[in-house]
Amino acid sequence: MLPSAPLHRLDLPWLEQADIDVAILRLDLIDPLISGNKWFKLKHHLRAAEHAGAEGVISLGGAHSNHLHALAAAGRRFHFSTVGLLRGHPIETATVKDLQAFGMELHWLGYAGYRARHDADFWTPWRERYPQLYPVPEGGGGLDGALGCAEIVSQARSQLGKAGWDDYHGWWLACGTGTTLAGLVLAESQTRRLYGAMAVPEGHGVAENIQQILGSVNPERYELIAASRGGFARTDPALMAFIAECEEQSGVPFEPLYTGKALLALRQAIEAGRFAKGSRLIFVHTGGLQGNRR
Ligand SMILES: Cc1ncc(COP(=O)(O)O)c(C=O)c1O
Repeated sequence: MLPSAPLHRLDLPWLEQADIDVAILRLDLIDPLISGNKWFKLKHHLRAAEHAGAEGVISLGGAHSNHLHALAAAGRRFHFSTVGLLRGHPIETATVKDLQAFGMELHWLGYAGYRARHDADFWTPWRERYPQLYPVPEGGGGLDGALGCAEIVSQARSQLGKAGWDDYHGWWLACGTGTTLAGLVLAESQTRRLYGAMAVPEGHGVAENIQQILGSVNPERYELIAASRGGFARTDPALMAFIAECEEQSGVPFEPLYTGKALLALRQAIEAGRFAKGSRLIFVHTGGLQGNRR
């Protein structure tokens, strides 16, 4: 059973002025460690690991990876071993220190080594070295990751009354691999549209990844919006000022790499007249606040 995330109205002056109603699904609040979309993305992978009789899980990510952080925390809490393959060379970030404290065994692959993760034979030496571990793709992606995210839809729907709504028009959320968005598309009805604010630049394969998960699903069900502001993990003073202001006005904490960029992209879309007055959107707070400790 996945923990339940509260849904509440997002009070921001620019939403009120535009007469757009937004409710925010606070996945950041479901758990202090396995937060945001991570629990949902991991659920089916961990179940598959259990069915395979694995003793633990091996996965990949960067030195600030929210995915590895949640996985390592899950390993510690539910008593399975975890191995992390990291991008680049050893550095001590707050995330990396936590990974170590949670008992995750780390291997630094360098940059070229990490780029090779899509090669057909990438996993061979790791499977030989850790035959007892189940490999989970980067970011907890793939169909298993998306299937867990489908539950996000039912969680929000069961709480629409809290936003004073009986219905809504669509969803707005940050995309890294697009797995979470794909899960929402799988679970949502044809009439509701999904907007994915891409936290990574064009060319990072988000659209391809989503299509691979969704197969023959009509790509018109969702729309991808450029929101990386010049690069993944790149921030700028305008973004940071916007986040600080929205945090103060709404009382909701955001982080700059995913949720803050997604919120700014939403304001820009509203300013560009993309939504009719009276539109109702669910904004998914996908978590990631642990990454604020830099
Ligand atoms: C906080 C946060 N939000 C959103 C995402 C994007 O999720 P997805 O890769 O499923 O598109 C990530 C990436 O894993 C994340 O860490």
